[in-house]
Amino acid sequence: MTARPLHNRLSDAPHVASALQALRRRPRRWLVTGGAGFIGSYLTEVLLAAEQEVIVLDDFSTGQRSNLAEALEPLPLAAASRLEVVHGDVRDRETLDGLVRRSDVVAHHAGRPGVRRSMLDPDGTHDVHVNGFQTLLDSVKVHDVRLLYAASSVSYGTASGLLNREDEEGVPLSPYAAQKAANDLYAAAYRRAYGVRVIGLRHFNVIGPRAPLHGDAVGVLARWMQRARQGQPCEVYGDGRSTRDFVHVGNAVAATVLAATTRNDAAFGRVFNIGSGHATTLLELHGYLTNAWHAAAMSPQPVTPKFLPFRDGDVRHASADVRSARDAFGYHPVVGLEEAVADTLAWFKAQAVPPNGKTSFTQPSAATP
Ligand SMILES: NC(=O)c1ccc[n+]([C@@H]2O[C@H](COP(=O)([O-])OP(=O)(O)OC[C@H]3O[C@@H](n4cnc5c(N)ncnc54)[C@H](O)[C@@H]3O)[C@@H](O)[C@H]2O)c1
Repeated sequence: MTARPLHNRLSDAPHVASALQALRRRPRRWLVTGGAGFIGSYLTEVLLAAEQEVIVLDDFSTGQRSNLAEALEPLPLAAASRLEVVHGDVRDRETLDGLVRRSDVVAHHAGRPGVRRSMLDPDGTHDVHVNGFQTLLDSVKVHDVRLLYAASSVSYGTASGLLNREDEEGVPLSPYAAQKAANDLYAAAYRRAYGVRVIGLRHFNVIGPRAPLHGDAVGVLARWMQRARQGQPCEVYGDGRSTRDFVHVGNAVAATVLAATTRNDAAFGRVFNIGSGHATTLLELHGYLTNAWHAAAMSPQPVTPKFLPFRDGDVRHASADVRSARDAFGYHPVVGLEEAVADTLAWFKAQAVPPNGKTSFTQPSAATP
């Protein structure tokens, strides 16, 4: 990736810069679960740049050591001495207790995201998402440590208004959605019952470099980039006018830093939408990709989209009303969509093409985070 390092770009925004300065003034030790994954590795990068100590706990089921290597790339060599990587499982209470005890903040990103994965393995994903999360809540309760966790807009399910608000409730459409919704209930209950300092950050369609290119959690942008590289048309389910809130990973990281430093006790026990605040149609996203493709001089030329029928269970519209997060801890997005697509493409361009030029895909979760 040739773009400026994320921590520099986030520091351009005064509200994020002041949160990062607060961290620098009083460095903390962070436990980042799932830190070898997409969002977790960017959080790790920004925290290390802000002089924090970071313990990454990851079972490397989908996480990559290369993500952590990329996270260290733009940082001074000494940053590596503040990073500890533990190969372990969030469901292992003993491991968790040992790490939580040594931490000031926990940012929970361990998980097996993707609707399809949960459809194929409801028990296994439940175990990680619900049992793992409850184990972590219990541990932070005992050690009195602030917990920030990655929630998901997939929990809105059938509540698919043009703008999603936190007080909306829908029927979850997959085990993954139910598991993420269960986390929010557990977090609220642990706040009320035990006073745990927990904040949920409900991410929408997070995009950026290091987002998975393969497997069940591959998103629509990654899939389209792969198709375009093979000279295949990008597949659009429906008429292309469905909307999603595509948001740069830097905004997810900014929200985590803001939530970690907020002094607003009223934020605890609640979950907040974290998105761009804009509804983008799939056709608009395709337009951004086409422009970025030309600007990056990629070949072959991208071809017009191929329209396929709507799929059962696909949400028609989703976008984040981010006013609650703004009011509670000053969140507003820093990196825009055009930049997000260009960043992702620059990173994708640098990835090796598979030997046969083809990539095997399962159906992508068209736009379900
Ligand atoms: N990417 C998105 O668009 C999006 C949107 C909404 C919510 N989220 C949530 O954000 C979190 C991070 O998502 P991501 O996109 O970075 O996913 P990711 O798959 O890249 O990262 C998840 C990480 O968790 C690790 N992991 C899985 N099971 C584990 C276990 N039992 N113990 C320890 N580590 C384990 C994986 O190895 C991986 O490194 C997830 O909870 C996901 O549900 C993501």
